[in-house]
Amino acid sequence: MTMLPYQAIVLCAFLQLTWASSLSFPSDFKFGSATASYQVEGGWDADGKGPSIWDRYVHEFPGDIKGNATGDVAGDSYHQWREDVKAAAKMKLQFYRFSINWPRVLPTGFANEINPAGVKYYSDLIDALLAEGIEPIVTIFHWELPVKMQDLGGWTNPLIVKWFGDYARVVYTLYADRVKTWLTLNEPNTVCDYFYNSGVFATRIKESDFAPFLCNKHMMLAHATAYRIFDKEFRPKYKGKISIAPHALWIEPATPEDEALAELGRQHQLGRYSHPIYSKEGGWPPSVEKVMLEHSLQQGHTESRLPAFTEQEIEFMKGTADYYAMNQYTTYVIRPSKAGDEAGMWFLTGSPELQATLYHPEKATYGTAYILPVYPEGMRKMMSWVKQQYGDYPILITENGFSSTGSQLDDHQRVDYIKNYLEQILLAMYKDKVKVMGYTAWSLIDSFEWMDGYETKFGLYEIDYNHPNRTRTPRLSSFYYSCVIAERSLDV
Ligand code: NOJ
Repeated sequence: MTMLPYQAIVLCAFLQLTWASSLSFPSDFKFGSATASYQVEGGWDADGKGPSIWDRYVHEFPGDIKGNATGDVAGDSYHQWREDVKAAAKMKLQFYRFSINWPRVLPTGFANEINPAGVKYYSDLIDALLAEGIEPIVTIFHWELPVKMQDLGGWTNPLIVKWFGDYARVVYTLYADRVKTWLTLNEPNTVCDYFYNSGVFATRIKESDFAPFLCNKHMMLAHATAYRIFDKEFRPKYKGKISIAPHALWIEPATPEDEALAELGRQHQLGRYSHPIYSKEGGWPPSVEKVMLEHSLQQGHTESRLPAFTEQEIEFMKGTADYYAMNQYTTYVIRPSKAGDEAGMWFLTGSPELQATLYHPEKATYGTAYILPVYPEGMRKMMSWVKQQYGDYPILITENGFSSTGSQLDDHQRVDYIKNYLEQILLAMYKDKVKVMGYTAWSLIDSFEWMDGYETKFGLYEIDYNHPNRTRTPRLSSFYYSCVIAERSLDV
């Protein structure tokens, strides 16, 4: 690791006092950071690993991704993982969230063939983290679907519920003795509402009628299956907590009259991925069910494009989470669509069934990930909404972070970002009485930012992509974050 010139002297001197500076994070509040396998590992075909949809996509359609980037080497964490552990230890992180690359462990995705090198890779990483006193938090699926499964329809095929359950069982068998906090699926709403309708991302599926909703149903059932397997077969022996991490976009109404539409938007974007699990009655959010049916009938369909759940499925999914996990970065404003509004994918421009349009809040600021306007107040509002909707589940913020471009070790904007969002979390805890388990800074190191390639950087540590070992250098934000962790306060 290279040293920053100010590394020796700048220790906890970020003082910017606000009222929240007087508050502390309770002793059971945990601070961590995260990465995801395809974004950092490289070693895309190393030691028996099978191909995922990302491996195939970046090689077949290089022009889709900025700079023709691939994750073939990325941060080379497949070889440099000890450096990641060192980086995490240096900040005294309490946990490190990483994900398992499905075809690294099961080359075809199916559980009949296990790759020993892949098994060892994650096992060694877990052991090294534990040796440093860092808790591993493991995401079972962060978007690397084995190609064979995609070719069978991927998340639109109901059989994937069973395939995912089998994969989860393999992973628990291997690691549940040491891993105590789990996430089944990362951002199922990004997967379904983006990969299965935007025409970009690894699936290249452009179809907004059925695919996103079939995917939604199967992801909910796959999650519940993985939860039930854990609960029944592993928890009695190993203990542990498990949840699912949707992308929690806060939606503000453009005017007070648009509040009902904003609420429908929240239910559509997040409720479809939470209501089946956390609500008392289970199943789809009723408001979304209604709108989907009306819109489908208007389109001449004979039933809703949102596929129904059976009573048995509703019961099966209910209560299948031990805490509420969410990736929270951003806020959009919603208003009814007007003639001339661009039609498009839900996350950016609304959804045909809602006849709504989403746009960026006026007072948002920006990093380089333009689709993620910076709006810290949205964090508190989102957390309070979750409490109001689903009750007192403890919340774990599984991702939150700032994007920058270029080599920038003095990333004071990221420092401000972390501080401002953490302040909103303190407000949610102290003023709104929201229970919070912890905070995850995205990301530990720079990584392959999907369609944006390597231009957009989120890392607390910078990666030198020109260096054969992909050296990691701490940014100012990593020092800031370690000070917050040490002091358990923003008064640093
Ligand atoms: C959420 C995704 O889980 C992660 O993979 C991505 O890098 C960040 N958002 C930033 O866009």
